[in-house]
Amino acid sequence: MGQDIREEAKRRAAERAVEFLKDGQIVGLGTGSTAIFAIRAIGRLVREGLKIRGVPTSVDTARCATELGIPLVDLNETCSVDITIDGADQIDGRFDMIKGGGGALVREKLVAHVTEREVIVVDPSKPVATLGGSCPVPVEVLPFGWCLAARLLAKLGCTPSLRQRNGQSFVSDNGNYIVDCEFGDISDPGYLERSIKELPGVVETGLFVGLAHTLIVGTESGADVTQRFR
Ligand code: 5RP
Repeated sequence: MGQDIREEAKRRAAERAVEFLKDGQIVGLGTGSTAIFAIRAIGRLVREGLKIRGVPTSVDTARCATELGIPLVDLNETCSVDITIDGADQIDGRFDMIKGGGGALVREKLVAHVTEREVIVVDPSKPVATLGGSCPVPVEVLPFGWCLAARLLAKLGCTPSLRQRNGQSFVSDNGNYIVDCEFGDISDPGYLERSIKELPGVVETGLFVGLAHTLIVGTESGADVTQRFR
């Protein structure tokens, strides 16, 4: 799939998701190149009179939403979210996911946990039969002793690498580092998520298990909507 077609697929998925929004809702605003299409569409709807308040999942998303005139609310003030629209790096048939390619996994997971309906918007390259393969699992770790956390992660069976940006260690919105962990095929995402979370120095993992409710895959001509089988 060419880059232009992929961008169109992302836009279609995101704009389909925005059709679920209703007046009065608290809306989780995802992070990434697919979620941004939803944020722009929400901005247009807000200018046309839609009354929602957004909970951003990253500093970038907060800045963008503010520029577009979307009113924001702090997660501590609301503690619950009606609907969230977010992207994913991979999603499998049970709607388990790898997220955090954009480095926003901690806030994305917190928001997903308190969301009534988590809507995931992706292009057709993201759905997979089995999570992992060549897609690493991002793990946010404390900068203090990150090397030890990386060594412990390697003992779980991955090849860890500290994420870099412009020749420096990537720093998340929470002031932490991200270790990208290549596990190959992941047979039990829930078990792996729990095993990673037990390690000292780990803040959060990019494995999102049981958190998504609706998947929207943009295609060349439209968007396919699937609900998670409960
Ligand atoms: C950011 C994320 C993104 O949702 C994920 O990386 C997908 O991004 P994109 O839509 O740009 O492919 O988890 O932390």
